[in-house]
Parts: sequence; structure tokens; C-alpha cells
Amino acid sequence: MDLELNHPVALVPTMGALHAGHASLIELAKKHSEEVVVSIFVNPLQFENPNDFSNYPKSVSADIELAKASGATKIWVPTFEEIYPGDPEIIASGEIGNIFEGVHRFGHFDGMLTVVKRLFDLVQPKCAVFGEKDFQQLFLIKKMVAQFNLPIEVISAPTIREASGLAMSSRNQKLSVSERDNAAGIYKALNLANSTPDLATARSQLTKGILAIPNFLLDYAEIIDGDNFSIANDSTSNSRAIIAGWINGIRLIDNMVMSNWSNLGNSK
Ligand code: PAF
Repeated sequence: MDLELNHPVALVPTMGALHAGHASLIELAKKHSEEVVVSIFVNPLQFENPNDFSNYPKSVSADIELAKASGATKIWVPTFEEIYPGDPEIIASGEIGNIFEGVHRFGHFDGMLTVVKRLFDLVQPKCAVFGEKDFQQLFLIKKMVAQFNLPIEVISAPTIREASGLAMSSRNQKLSVSERDNAAGIYKALNLANSTPDLATARSQLTKGILAIPNFLLDYAEIIDGDNFSIANDSTSNSRAIIAGWINGIRLIDNMVMSNWSNLGNSK
């Protein structure tokens, strides 16, 4: 495998189709290490739907430019055989891998953890950067690192948004202009929930906000405890609203910490 690295390394795992959100992850990685590896690998194991896998946007040359311009020192585009030379050891995502995203994307998190563990084993980074947009993914990666006692710091990076508030995603490019406008309603719904005085009002405002999004097919919207993914209650100190759904066949997810009324950190 052609992967000569100057350790210590910061790793930014991606599936390509890079955008400003990825650029921010790479820039953050650069603050932690001179050597920044960006991997580009569309991992078939984490796609529960083969069409979604084959239609996943690809733009490797543009990705390489963007990664370099953002500070990457090595852009690694491994083959399937490099990542999975034999039958991979599947990493089980457990209970939390089977709720919310896991209900709607069966097996997704096992496949995601399996590839992230392989990338970690192959690159041996001192740290790796992941976006908060995929909050359940981030949570499960941190849990896996603790479970295997890996000497890797998992760094979370804030969600980067379009001017409308829509969370940046490689999938956004498949939305028409009007669908993008509608998709910005997800951010509005999250803000609506956050602008309330308490959990009960937040839940009803979240629902109201979602119902106002034209042509949005909801998978789930909930306010959870960001520390353990249980359903938030009045004493939850780290509440976070999470939403996922579809606009014209494009899956969109987002989340927001409920900082206005959740008693952040007081119970820790
Ligand atoms: O978030 C992603 O792009 C992917 O799930 C990841 C972490 C690169 C694993 O394939």
C-alpha cells in the first residue's frame, strides 16, 4: 500500500464529494498536526441501499484540489482491496447503532464503524476529525475508540451551513434550487425548538417547524440527551434536537444543541 506518512498524523476520513464542510474539518485537523491525511473511500458496507451507493456523488479531481487547498498533505484514495483485503471484522454498533438513523438505515453504523476502524488501523493517526452534523456517527466513533482503547483523539467539528442555514452535505447538490430552499426549513425547525423556554414547548415547536417544510418526508425528530441518546426529560442537561427525513428522495439529517433552555453541563 502506497501510504508513507510522517507521524504524528491527523486523519480526516471522507467519502469524497468534498465541500466547504470538509474543508473546515481539514483546516481543523491542520491545527492538530502538520501531516494531515484525507482519505476518500465510498464504503459499500455502510450503504443499506445499493442504488444510494452507486449514485453517491463522485468528484475525485476536484476533491484533491479542495483537500490540498485546505491543508491536506496526503490524499489517500484506497481501493476496496486495500481496505478490505479479506472478510472484514464487522464492528457492531450495538444498541445506539440501532436507534434513530439505525432504524432507517439498517446496518449502516456497523458498516461505518467497520471502515473507520480499518482506516484507523491502516493510518494509525494521533487524532481524527469528524463533523457534528452526523452526531450519532460521531457518538458511536467516540464509543468505539473507548471500547478498543485506541490511542486516538476524536475531534468534533461544528456543522458548516449554507447561507440559508441548510447543513452542508455532499447530497445537497442533488437538490434543485427550490428543494434547497425547502430543506433550509430543517434548520428553522431546530432554531424554533431552541428558542423556547422548556422541553415540552421545544418538542411542539420542533413538530410545528417540521410540518411547515414543504414536501418533507420525516423519518424522525426528537430531543435527546446528547450524552447517551436517551429521550430527553426535564432534568437532561445536554439536550439536542435531531431530525432526519427526505426531500424528493434525498436524505437529509441535522441536529442542534438546545443551548437556550437545556441546562448544559450542570449535572456533569
Ligand atoms: O461521514 C462520512 O463521510 C463517512 O461515514 C465516513 C466517516 C468517512 C466513513 O465512511
